[in-house]
Amino acid sequence: MSHLDALETNLRELKLSRVADHLSSFLADAAKQEWDYGKFLEQFVREELAARRERRNEMGMRMARMPFLKTLESFDFAYQPSINPKQIKELSAVRWVANGENLVLLGPPGVGKTHLAVSLGVKAIEAGYKTQFTSAQSLIASLARAHAENRLEQRLKLYCQPKLLVIDEIGYIPIDRHGANLFFQLISRRYEKGAMILTSNQPYSNWGDIFGDRIIATAILDRVLHHATTISIKGESYRLKEKLKAGLLQRQEAKA
Ligand SMILES: Nc1ncnc2c1ncn2[C@@H]1O[C@H](COP(=O)(O)OP(=O)(O)OP(=O)(O)O)[C@@H](O)[C@H]1O
Ligand SMILES: [Mg+2]
Repeated sequence: MSHLDALETNLRELKLSRVADHLSSFLADAAKQEWDYGKFLEQFVREELAARRERRNEMGMRMARMPFLKTLESFDFAYQPSINPKQIKELSAVRWVANGENLVLLGPPGVGKTHLAVSLGVKAIEAGYKTQFTSAQSLIASLARAHAENRLEQRLKLYCQPKLLVIDEIGYIPIDRHGANLFFQLISRRYEKGAMILTSNQPYSNWGDIFGDRIIATAILDRVLHHATTISIKGESYRLKEKLKAGLLQRQEAKA
């Protein structure tokens, strides 16, 4: 085995695969640019750390089960003037995730709630926080299934593991008393421990109707809002804008 082959094998054993994958070009670069020992080592560590971060982000994204991939960079703030870009930028630093606080995005269909939730979730993953995305409907269905199978405790623990839990679409599907109770248990478990992003098409004043019980809704909101930022998005659906642009709808029709 040549000395380079042995080096490559050893790098792989140490799980330093980025440099192992590009060993000859890495060494050629070092020679061409005349790196001294310090620079060589710094470059080596930088490459491996970047590769580790990429792998961690990929894994984090897979585990998060996002419904689609959207970024803050692709969000058109000009279209949605009710959103303060500075506030979103501030939130993208995800200090609130570290602190176990919540973010609630309210607004009618198509205004970008899920887009913002996903893109802030991506920022949390990039910052190294375990993140999970779910809709309120599938969260409650999953808790109800676990309850029926006497596994509620384990399932609640599972939903408490991610540092950031995104619960999308609260309010589209009515929740029965049992579902509301299960949802409350989860919120209560995560309270002041894990951060959450909640999205809803309904203002807080209607949450009593969503959960079919004003008392439970109040108890849920009390915990969620104790350390939370609420962003109320007002404006037109972006989906509509795209249809109008494509000439599929006239503005009058779109408003009807
Ligand atoms: N301001 C925006 N800039 C760029 N794309 C946007 C913007 N707002 C929404 N979109 C896009 O429009 C589509 C609908 O947005 P999104 O799914 O976030 O809406 P929503 O508020 O979650 O609606 P719903 O309540 O119906 O779930 C998505 O493809 C999203 O990426
Ligand atoms: Mg949505």
